[in-house]
Amino acid sequence: MRVAILGMGSVGRGVLQMIEEKNLGITVTAVADSKSALMDRDGIRIEEVLEAKRIHGFCGDKSLGAMDVVTGAAYDVLVEVTPTNAGTGEPALTHILTAMERGHHVVTSNKGPISREFSRLRSIAAEKGVQLRYEATVGGAIPIIHTLTQGLAGNRILAIFGVLNGTCNFILTRMAAEGLTYEQALLEAREMGYAEADPTYDVKGIDPAIKLVILANTICRETLKLEDVEITGIDLLTNDALRLAEEQHCTIRLIAEAIPDRGILRVAPRLLPISHPLVVEGTLNAITIETDMAGEITLIGKGAGSVETASAIIGDLLYIRDAHAGSHSKTT
Ligand code: HSE
Repeated sequence: MRVAILGMGSVGRGVLQMIEEKNLGITVTAVADSKSALMDRDGIRIEEVLEAKRIHGFCGDKSLGAMDVVTGAAYDVLVEVTPTNAGTGEPALTHILTAMERGHHVVTSNKGPISREFSRLRSIAAEKGVQLRYEATVGGAIPIIHTLTQGLAGNRILAIFGVLNGTCNFILTRMAAEGLTYEQALLEAREMGYAEADPTYDVKGIDPAIKLVILANTICRETLKLEDVEITGIDLLTNDALRLAEEQHCTIRLIAEAIPDRGILRVAPRLLPISHPLVVEGTLNAITIETDMAGEITLIGKGAGSVETASAIIGDLLYIRDAHAGSHSKTT
């Protein structure tokens, strides 16, 4: 299977490393970052590309860009892992639409297009007979989309409750455990590379709200948008609030909740008993799914990170490889 990768940030580099290290039968025929691109229909040399990126800050030919890869490279699957733009979804939206229109499968970690244009993208994928997979958009390494769509197929999903933002969870954990101020804890989260390029997306609850929209649209097949979510972040939370919670053997977590039958779509800080399954530490994410047949299921795992997110991307790639064994999408 041949893949073209757009984006060489932490996720893109993690995907390249894992493809290089593991014998997965995946050939990378093109890569692009924000400044350059490289294409070779026989397969690029991954180690050399990663080294070039590390030393020079770009991966290939500066006269080429992402759209040259989308329209000109030889690939079966486009891996779109450029940074999220929650406002317009661009330029990732155009990359994904163009690739699918040309008959290519798409795997993405990009929350912008999936949260904004899910219904349209899914229709085009169906029309073109290609796969659009987005496991890496929610919960990092946690296979939440596979769980909802395959593992729990046939169940009615009654509710989803989740800790969907590692940065906020890390901040709340550090404030409660070490007495750090909100500002100190946020600085640590940024230094460790967990936060979004613009960390207000994390602390104001926008990132978990975007992920909640993706989950809700996945289970309801609706066209919910970020504007439909009632959002309160953790940016105004004080150490006193956490201390008061502790006195009641509780703590505070930023919880995203979707309860379709009651029309609830909300992200807000919640007081939870210390022993509650959603009280996870550090950058962990946790998601409880309430279903009619399977009862309650809670998944806990690493919500961010280079190799962790690569795990979700690779899972999607191998799903496509197995689902389409023997067939190839159209190649330019
Ligand atoms: N900033 C996000 C988080 C990264 O902290 O969870 C993963 O989506």
